Amino acid sequence: MTNDKKMRAKKVSESTATMTEMVMPNDTNPLQNLMGGNLMRWMDVAASIAAGKHCEAHVVTASVDHVSFHKPIALGDIVTLNARPTRAFNTSVEIFVEVFAADIKGGNPRKCNHAYFTFVAIEDETRKPKPVPEVIALTGEEEKLYESAARRREVRLVLSGRMKPEEASELRALFLSFEPNDGN
Ligand SMILES: CC(C)(COP(=O)(O)OP(=O)(O)OC[C@H]1O[C@@H](n2cnc3c(N)ncnc32)[C@H](O)[C@@H]1OP(=O)(O)O)[C@@H](O)C(=O)NCCC(=O)NCCS
Repeated sequence: MTNDKKMRAKKVSESTATMTEMVMPNDTNPLQNLMGGNLMRWMDVAASIAAGKHCEAHVVTASVDHVSFHKPIALGDIVTLNARPTRAFNTSVEIFVEVFAADIKGGNPRKCNHAYFTFVAIEDETRKPKPVPEVIALTGEEEKLYESAARRREVRLVLSGRMKPEEASELRALFLSFEPNDGN
């Protein structure tokens, strides 16, 4: 890992990426709805653009939190993906991706799903992880996403076996704060 003393913290809006696609026949399943794997690919691309812009580096996908598909997206629909950084850690940054769809006339606008991606910035020469700039959260929603990112990070690190559950201090604090009063 190298030190980059010139790294400056960046606002969420500086790295937000918006991507628009039309669902074409090749993107669909036999029911003529967008195939889940194709949507995940678009989400990965949009998220990696936001992560790359934030880190000003090549990035690799380290993990994707669970993705559920709430609403089908039909052939011919316009899909808009919005990806933005929530919080940076040492060499990784979490990206929040939201997916919206509507028909070509703007009818039936809806949010279809969202997911959190984690990307790691990679040093060009060594191909090793490199430090990333901090994320500056300005709006109320950005602050909430920033604050909760620490808990999501612990969940994914514990589930991937990279952190012992007893080391997950943010999660412990959350559960302890919800501990029911035992009457003593
Ligand atoms: C992601 C990768 C670079 C991590 O490499 P590593 O040698 O484990 O590096 P480190 O232990 O220094 O971890 C680097 C960062 O990755 C994060 N990370 C690693 N695995 C993770 C996971 N499963 N979920 C979330 N973050 C993870 C670490 O928390 C660390 O972040 P931090 O520095 O902000 O704390 C490496 O596993 C890799 O190259 N994976 C393949 C990536 C890829 O090809 N993606 C496309 C899939 S087709």
